[in-house]
Order: sequence, then structure tokens, then C-alpha cells
Amino acid sequence: MSVEQQAALGSGADFWSTKQVGDLPSLVLTDGPHGVRRQVGATDHLGLAGSEPATCFPPAVGLGQSWDADLTRKVGAALGVESRALGVDVLLGPGINIKRDPRCGRNFEYYSEDPHLSGRLAASWVQGLQSTGVGASLKHFAANNTEHDRMRSSSDIAPRPLREIYLRAFQYVVQQAQPWTVMCSYNRVNGTYASENRWLLTEVLRDEWCFDGVVVSDWGAVQDRVKAVAAGLDLEMPGSGGGTDRQVVDAVAAGELDAEAVARTAGRMIALAAKAQAGRATQIPAFDPDTHHALARQVAAHCVVLLKNDPVEQQAVLPLDAGHSLAVIGEFARTPRYQGGGSSHVNPTRLDIPLGEIHAMAGDGADVTYMPGFTTDGSGDAAALREEAVRAAAAAETAVLFLGLAAHQESEGFDREQIELPAEQLELLADVVRAQPRTAVVLSHGGVLRLAPVESLVPALLDGALLGQAGGGALADVLFGRVNPSARLTETVPVRIQDTPAYLDFPGEHSHVGYGEGLFVGYRWYDARAIDPTFPFGHGLSYTSFAYANLELTAETDGIAATVTVTNTGARPGREVVQFYVAKPDSSVARPPQELKGHAVVDLAPGASERVSILIDRADLAYWDIRGERWVVEGGDYEVRAAASSRDIRTSATVEVTGDAFALPLTLNSTLGEVMAAPGAAELLGTLMLMPQTAADNEALGIDMAKMMVSIPVCRLLSFAGGQVTLADLEKLLTQLNTGRS
Ligand code: GLC
Repeated sequence: MSVEQQAALGSGADFWSTKQVGDLPSLVLTDGPHGVRRQVGATDHLGLAGSEPATCFPPAVGLGQSWDADLTRKVGAALGVESRALGVDVLLGPGINIKRDPRCGRNFEYYSEDPHLSGRLAASWVQGLQSTGVGASLKHFAANNTEHDRMRSSSDIAPRPLREIYLRAFQYVVQQAQPWTVMCSYNRVNGTYASENRWLLTEVLRDEWCFDGVVVSDWGAVQDRVKAVAAGLDLEMPGSGGGTDRQVVDAVAAGELDAEAVARTAGRMIALAAKAQAGRATQIPAFDPDTHHALARQVAAHCVVLLKNDPVEQQAVLPLDAGHSLAVIGEFARTPRYQGGGSSHVNPTRLDIPLGEIHAMAGDGADVTYMPGFTTDGSGDAAALREEAVRAAAAAETAVLFLGLAAHQESEGFDREQIELPAEQLELLADVVRAQPRTAVVLSHGGVLRLAPVESLVPALLDGALLGQAGGGALADVLFGRVNPSARLTETVPVRIQDTPAYLDFPGEHSHVGYGEGLFVGYRWYDARAIDPTFPFGHGLSYTSFAYANLELTAETDGIAATVTVTNTGARPGREVVQFYVAKPDSSVARPPQELKGHAVVDLAPGASERVSILIDRADLAYWDIRGERWVVEGGDYEVRAAASSRDIRTSATVEVTGDAFALPLTLNSTLGEVMAAPGAAELLGTLMLMPQTAADNEALGIDMAKMMVSIPVCRLLSFAGGQVTLADLEKLLTQLNTGRS
């Protein structure tokens, strides 16, 4: 293959496909993470032009709330079937960026504020999709946590949060699910564009994580194709019409770009084409829209979080009783908000309308009234709409109020300024609850909302997030108890925006956004700062109840085996999401008070118990050591907490783990304290008269000399030794100590 042909392979033929070179076929790549957006006419990367009908599954904000990896695998496989039916070779998903700040416009397309949960769910999605012969594109690599200035802004992140939070889920998915492609993000990472960040695309992704697929750019993310190829980018999308191919060829000819780098890129594109060709031949079921719609409804029902369900006059508001008169209020009951705006936007094969599904579920003879209550575009007479809705609520036995954000209020491409529900909706809520205490609220939104004003007023509250085309049916299933809600929050709901971790940094300025909260993103922040949220990470109720007992921990070579007994103590079958958080309060490094390191989903009949077992991976106990530039598992005790949410710890136990044999070599720059910690150091230091004063001396001086000296680098002690000790003496001592420790 000539260098011209090699260069041609590395840039698209048009908006959605790669070039056909020689007998290498052109491949089709297209969005998105919760539905296939296949454009056969006009093309765009913001979901503006039309696309072929496809099933719109719950976007990640909803799907993530299921906490169910088996479900995400099924969704991935279903999307693969539809991708194949629409001639797509690579589906551009999943999106796994961390929900760092609730105002990020794209959070609807991401799973969680936690990397462990994001990684587990995304890996299963990738495995499901790729089992059908369609490749995934893990995105957006990396640290694309704001939409503001997203094509220029530098995410400025210290090494530990970068590794332990923002890269961690990518690492897990790459190593566990081997996505065919990884999509580099628009933004810069610590000053260098992701598309030309060699540390990111080659040293970390390939050399450390052993990724062997194709790195594709986000659409329009390549700033400099020659630098990008040198850094490890393989495919520029969309195509540049040959212009940048020429730049690559010229750079090789001028000796400015290694021909090997171009050949490597071509080799990876050839390997991708081979995977796609094999994929096209994989036998899979035909796409049946009704089957996928039914799956979308089953999935969506597991994505609805029951946030609150307090009894009114000793009777729970939910589930609804079909025999009771019902007032359904809110525009979203008639015009559902079921997906986000931008590149992930799907043209659904059909759309469930919540009001219609409620009528169907309540039955023909049921007394169900409807009032819009408000408009989502500021039109209409707000007072009149509110009054007629309040009258309907007062006249019924129960009211269900659909509230949330309209599509124009949040989307890819811009961030929100605040996290409030619209004022007219809050006003309506207060009047409706005053007229009808038996009111349940159903929320539709992509990014987190401030719910304190809602939680304080309403006895029953469901978080529907965004549920896809079958969300209307799924909500009816949950409202009437046909499905017992089991979903859990994957993002903390703050009392106020000022409590949030990135509040002072977000969204950045002058094309830089600092990650000042470091490791302490999401619940890590609220736990460390002892800030109470309105609803905590992992929170979700059920129409039944569960008890936990007999937590047992065993230290294994590959991690900690944890087993706990969970019992359904209520009268309905239900599903519990058992969460395992790990704490190491005596850690030698800064750590969040606790971190999610495992979870399991268990279905239980009333009265039934099950021993739920998981393995907490040893790798998940590690911290990133910036001195040795490696992962380190500390030895000692680890506390494991079995919980129903990050703030509902049911039982805990402690287990001892053997740490990694990791000791940095002692150098002249090691402190006296670090040297003193080495076996035999005290004697050796004593011979050099470098020991801190004795206790008696301290007594006489009224100070603790040792405490004052431990942080002095040993080479500086020479300044105080009056020539009694030479550099050679010190180096000899350090050699002895290092030898003794190795
Ligand atoms: C968009 C998005 C990316 C999408 C791509 C193609 O700008 O950032 O997620 O896959 O372009 O539409």
C-alpha cells in the first residue's frame, strides 16, 4: 500500500463513512448510544437533519439508573441488530464521561458521577453490541465534562483524579470489553488536544492498556492531522476531502512525520475493516420493531427511581389504585420528554404517550381526567392553566403531576446556568399539593434538578430521567405497580448548586477548566465535606423493603470476596441493588471516605432471602502513586460496607489485605522521616550524628525536634553537620538502606 493510500485510509470519505481503498470496503460509522441515527439524506452531527426510524432506548441517564449490566448488555445487542439492519459497522457509543457538574448539557448521555458504575455498565453495553458484529466507539476520550467551549477548552486535572476518576472507566471498558474503536474528545487534556495527545492516545491507551483498535476523532476534533497521526490518532472524521491526506504525505516526504506512524494507522484501519466484514457475515436475528419496543419498555421500567413514597393518611400514594379517580396533570404527560438533544437524537419507531398508557392501564371504566397545567414554551395563560389543573386535582382522589425540563432547556452543545425546575412548574406544584395532598410527581429531565422545593412538598416522587420511546408505558407500569421500581440514582441530587463539587470551577474560562475538587467528585465530595444532599448517590426506594445481614469478607489474591444476605421483608416481589462501598480511613494518601467498588442486582419474592456475593477487584483498591507513576494497593485493613445507597449503610465489616511490595528508592531528596522508616535506618543515622535529639534534649528545649526534622530532605542535613558528614557518607548510607530494603 502506498503512503498516499495509507493516508487516505486515515480520513473519512464523507460525513459518516470511510474511504474504499483497493479491496478494502468503505465502513459506516454513526450515532448513537441509545438508538441508531442513520442519515441517508442530509448529514449533521447535532441531530438536526432527519434519520431513519430506529428504537429509542433510554439514554444513559435513565439506563444507568437500572444499575443492571445484564440490561445494558441486552440494549447493546438490540442496538447491534438495528445497526446491522441499517448497514452500520460502528455505532458511536457508549458515552462514559463522568458527570462532574450537574450543569453539563451532555450529562443525559453519560451514566454516572462514579467511574466504577460507569465502567461496569458500559463494558456490558459494548459486549452486547459487539456480539452482533457491530463495533463500539467508546467516547469521549477523555475528560469531556463540559459543553462550554468544548472544542478548545483544556481540562486541567491532577494525575490522581485523572487516573482514578476520569480515565478509570475508559480503562475498565478497554481492558474488559475491547471496543473496536475509541473516540477522542474535542477538548484539550492538560493543555494538549486529545486528538494529538500522545500521552493519552499512545502511552496510556495503547502501551499501558493494550488497546489494539482504532482511535477515531470526534467529528471535527482534529486540529492538526499530522500531529494527530504522530500522537496515535487513526481516523479523522468527518473526511477532509483529501486535504489532510495530502498534508500527511507531504509531512512524510519532508521527514516531519514517521512513515511508520502512517503505516500503523493504515494497518489498524485494515484490521477494523476485517472485523466489520466478519461482523457483516455474523448471523443475528432480524430487526423486529415491536420486539425492540417491548424490550425498551421493560428496560425503561427498571430505570425509574422511586425517590419518595410517604403515606398520606396511612396510605401510600403509590402504586395507584385503578379504582380511584385520577387527575393527570402536566404537558409532559401528553408530550413526553424521552431523549436528549444533539448527535444522539433518534427518530423513534413509535412513541408511548404517558397519558394514553395511564388510560389503558386504569381500564375503560376508570375516572381519569387530564389538564396540561403549564406550557413548556411560555405561551398560554399560566394562571388559567394552573387553576383548571388545581380544580381537577381537587376533584380527584389522587393526582399525578408530570414535571421536568423541555428539550430546549438542556442539550449537547451548551451547559445549563442553573439546575432549577421552571418557576411556573413549582408554583403549579404548590397549588396542586395544597388542593390534593395525595399527589405523586413524575420527573423528566436529562441533568440533575434541584429537588428540595419538590421533596418538601410532595409525598410521592418518581425520577423518570429520560426513558426513551417506551417511557410512557414504563411509567404506567411503575405507577400502577405492574413493575416494582428498583432503579437507583447514579448522580447526587444537591440541596443547592453551591454545594456541588465543581461549583467554583465550572464551566471554566479563557479555554481552561480546572478540576479543583480533585478526587472528590459526586458523593465523594458530599461525604468528605459532610454535606447532606436532597437525595444521595445510589438512592432508590421500592414498593417492598429489604433487610441485610451476615456480611462476610474474605481476602483473596485477586481482591475481596464479599457476601451478604438480603431478604425481601415486604409483601411484594422486588429487586434490590446491593451496593458495596470500600473505606480505608488509615490510608497513607488522601482518599474519599468511601468509594463504590461493587454492586449486585437481586430479585426476591416476598420473604425470600439470598446470599449475594461479589468480588471486589484488587485493582479497584489501588490508588495512583504519582511518585512511582503506577497503581499501588496499600496493605492493611479495608472496611467494606453493604448498602442500599451511599448514605444508607446496612452493614459493614473489615478485612486485611496484603499490600503491593512497593517502596520508592531512598534518595538524597528523601526526607529524614522517609529514611527513618527504613529498617536499620536509626542505627545508621546515629552513626552519622544525624539523629534527631533525644527525648531529654527535647524536654530541655521544650520542643519535639524529631517532629521538626522529619520533613527535611536528608541532603539538606549536611548544611547543619558542620562538615562532620560528607555527601559520600550520606550516599553510602542510602545505598545500604536501599539494598537492605530491596
Ligand atoms: C458529536 C458528538 C459525538 C458524536 C459525533 C458524531 O459532536 O460529540 O458524540 O458521536 O459528533 O455525531
